[in-house]
This record gives sequence, structure tokens and C-alpha cells, in this order.
Amino acid sequence: MKKTIRKAVFPVGGLGTRFLPATKAMPKEMLPVVDKPLIEYAVEEAKAAGIEEFIFVTGRGKSAIEDHFDHSWELETALAKKGKTEELEASRASLLRPGQVAYTRQQDPLGLGHAVWCARRITGDEPFAVLLADDLVMADEPCLSQMIEVYNETGGNIVAVMDVPRSQTDRYGILDVVSEEGRLAKARGLVEKPKPDEAPSTLSIIGRYILQPEVMQELGRQQTGAGGEIQLTDAMARTIDRVPFHGLRFAGTRFDCGSKEGFLEAQIAFALQREDLGGAMAEILSRYCVDARVAAS
Ligand code: UTP
Repeated sequence: MKKTIRKAVFPVGGLGTRFLPATKAMPKEMLPVVDKPLIEYAVEEAKAAGIEEFIFVTGRGKSAIEDHFDHSWELETALAKKGKTEELEASRASLLRPGQVAYTRQQDPLGLGHAVWCARRITGDEPFAVLLADDLVMADEPCLSQMIEVYNETGGNIVAVMDVPRSQTDRYGILDVVSEEGRLAKARGLVEKPKPDEAPSTLSIIGRYILQPEVMQELGRQQTGAGGEIQLTDAMARTIDRVPFHGLRFAGTRFDCGSKEGFLEAQIAFALQREDLGGAMAEILSRYCVDARVAAS
């Protein structure tokens, strides 16, 4: 019988070098899109998908993440005194229930695979989800919920995938597809960051995974791959002969908030969706578009 996905791992131990100097003293995952940190979007997605245990793999300088998911008594008392109920609610929205959250620490940022491996004692012998906060997904049905729905049918390992231009395959983990049925692609292999002419397809993995515990044993070998890092995709590839592996073309839009362009686009897209800000953002955009056209002419 397939085990329910109850646990989610949030690897937040990376250095975030592409966002320096912003990330010198602040975790990349705390960067806000409009008015909410990236990590809170990921946790909300996991909550909506029925996750009950939230496991953060943190590192040096990441304590703001722990504070964010806890009470801020001074702030809450001050807001309550002033009768600022909406603000009080916003501050409490990120609270996780007692005992629902665990933090473990990745002492050296040796790669995503290593970060996930650091959570092995907490995930135990259960399958689990992994969410990378810097991949922000806008979707009617949360991306992880879509994946769990599929998992309940197929079992095994599941990753969220999307097609990328062939020229960009060297930025992603790419699936070697054996067959496709609707939005589901069955894979016989995957390659981390292949050159465009060597990529087995253009189906790239985004930061959402459902993994079986077997992957932890593979990660335990501590083998390094692309970029000298311990890669999660390499460990998954090594279990493919015994664990079914599928990619789900999820319905929704993914913003790569680990890159500046993706982060800026996410600000615009999420602001446009907001009732309180959509109109103002549209007006700002139209003004800047005119300015940009004038500057270009
Ligand atoms: P990235 O590949 O974007 O790396 O990690 P990074 O260090 O955060 O950022 P850059 O490339 O230097 O700008 C994707 C996710 O995996 C986590 C990161 O915190 C991020 O959420 N990660 C990465 C770890 O937890 N540990 C690592 O060793 C590497």
C-alpha cells in the first residue's frame, strides 16, 4: 500500500550568492514577493496539500526563518494594544502548530542532495515531499496537491516538470522520457545540467519532489556530481531501476525566484493578481512601458 505523504522538507541552507548583497545577512528564502517571504509561499503550498510535518534544513545566518514561523510576542502585543487586528492576523498567519515543525542544520552547503540527506533521521522510512522556496508556483490547484493526486495513483518518485528552451537545458535536471500519458511522463533516467546537444529531452525538473526513502541511502554515498555538489537528481537516477519515476507537467506558472529576472517577474505577476494592488501595478507598468519605448526610440 502507498504511504501517505505527511512530511515535507524545505532545504534552506544555500548561500544565495546570486542575490548578494541582499543575502549577506538575510536568508534568500526570506526575500518577499510583494509582502510575503518566499518560504511562506512554499509552506502554504505544503499546508494546502495536507502536509503535517514541516522540516527545515537550515544553515548559518538562517535563524530569521525560525523566527518567522514562531510568535513575535512584542510585535503581537503592540499590534493588539493598537487594535490593529488585520496586521495581527498577518503576523500570526505563518505560525505552525506546536510539534509540527523541525529544524536541522546543514553545516556546509555541499549541495541540494546533501541538504535533503541532512533530514534523513526526521523523514525516517516514510516518503516525503521536498519544496524549494525559490521556485514559486502560481496555480489554481497548488503544485504539490497536483503531485500528491498523481502519487496516489502511481506511487514512486514524482517531480514537477516543465518544458524549457533547448538552449537552457544546462541549467536544469532533465528527464530521459520513456513514455507519456496526458500530463504524466514516465522516465528511465535523468541528467543534471546536460549540454543542449546532449540533453535527452527538454523536460526540466522544478523545485517540487515526492521522494521515497530509498533516495536517502543513495545520498548517503555522498557522491558529488555537476558543479562538485551532491546532487539530488543523481541519487534519484540511481534508484530508477527499483523505484518508478514520473514527471508531472503541472498546471500553473513557475517563477525562478533564485534568479533576478524571475524574482522581478514574480513581483509583477503576484501584485497584478492582488485585489488591493492589481490596479496600481497595471498603471505603474503602463507608465514604465511608455517610458521604456521612449527610451528605446
Ligand atoms: P540554489 O541552487 O538556488 O543555491 O539552491 P543557493 O545557494 O540557494 O543560491 P545561489 O545559486 O548561490 O544564488 C536551491 C535551494 O536549495 C537550497 C537553497 O537554500 C535553496 O532553497 N540549498 C542549496 C541548500 O539547502 N543547501 C545547499 O547546499 C544548496
